[in-house]
Amino acid sequence: MSHDLLRHRSQFPILDRTTYLISNSLGAMPRGVYDAIHDYAETWATRGVRAWEERWWMLAGHVGDEIGALMNAPKGSISTHQNVTTCQAVVASCFDFSGKRNKVVYTDMNFPSVMYFWEAQKGRGVRVHMVKTDDAITVPTERLLDAIDEQTLLVPISHIIFRSAFINDAKAIIEKAHKVGALVVLDTFQSLGTVPVDVQALDTDFACGGVLKWLCGGPGVAYLYVRPDLGNKLVPSFTGWAAHEDPFAFEIGPNRYTVPPYRFMNGTPHVPALEACRPGLKIITEVGVDRIREKSKRQTTRLIELADQHGWPVNTPRDPEQRGGTVSIDMPDSYDVCRELLKREILVDYRPKAGVRMSPHFYNTDEELETAIDAVEEILKNRQLATR
Ligand SMILES: Cc1ncc(COP(=O)(O)O)c(C=O)c1O
Repeated sequence: MSHDLLRHRSQFPILDRTTYLISNSLGAMPRGVYDAIHDYAETWATRGVRAWEERWWMLAGHVGDEIGALMNAPKGSISTHQNVTTCQAVVASCFDFSGKRNKVVYTDMNFPSVMYFWEAQKGRGVRVHMVKTDDAITVPTERLLDAIDEQTLLVPISHIIFRSAFINDAKAIIEKAHKVGALVVLDTFQSLGTVPVDVQALDTDFACGGVLKWLCGGPGVAYLYVRPDLGNKLVPSFTGWAAHEDPFAFEIGPNRYTVPPYRFMNGTPHVPALEACRPGLKIITEVGVDRIREKSKRQTTRLIELADQHGWPVNTPRDPEQRGGTVSIDMPDSYDVCRELLKREILVDYRPKAGVRMSPHFYNTDEELETAIDAVEEILKNRQLATR
């Protein structure tokens, strides 16, 4: 089965040159992006301003649907944006935080940019309640559920924690939020493309993420799912002409909002990034997230076994059902080890409180895991010799 997935390796040039275990940060570029960018330039060069009408203006909606198909989102429910932080701003702009229901609940394991955004909304009346982790790996679900109460308006929460790959219990969080009248903004950046996500089964209110990691889509495209019944009601105040019912009428005065997904967009779309992300989406769709997940569970289990054999602490859940696609290994001098691995063309990253993150994707071989771990062993041995 895994062998079958390796069929796609030749579509990713960087896999010929490096041991690429960093898809939690930046997925490998599919070869098809060369053509996509070239075609974009050709369209611009030959069609000029007509490109807006013929292709570019509607591209955001098409790409939204392509992303949506990966998370069982109904057509037309996904708007695209430049990044997840912007998605938070779009959501925040739909609500009034001056009343009693003004609490925003998340955990200290959220991605910092999301925290920074919500912290900065305190001036608009937002009351942030941040639930703390005990072990820097997991989120205490009961504590989080207890914090979601009748005064809670929003719960912007990572589906999978970027540091540890812990999978939050999204279903329980969404159920509790709905019981008390709160809404959930599920950040699926670290799940979509490596762990199955079904926004309708979860009944999440919003979902957001970007395409540059597990979806191999490159920087510049994030997605925002809005539950369709909400989507037609909400009125984002972070808005612009893309959200207008008739943008090219250039009407004066307040926005006359169109329907989703454009209702949640604002200014001129990020066309080159939208073009560049499509080859990755196509491959992930072809491969299938269920098959990616099966392989990922097996390979992350293997990485943990190898780390255990060396006695290196692992800051990632051991139960594969609680773990996304990354294994964080906190070997001695992990920051320096990471720098050394990069020099040897073994691409991984280092995060404080996590260690070296290794993230095999469907295109990685089992041998590459051994290569990375063997290199760490050698680097540590050399360092020991040097300090003697
Ligand atoms: C869970 C999660 N959310 C958000 C981000 C990034 O946010 P933004 O798209 O605003 O840069 C990341 C990583 O880059 C992430 O891992």
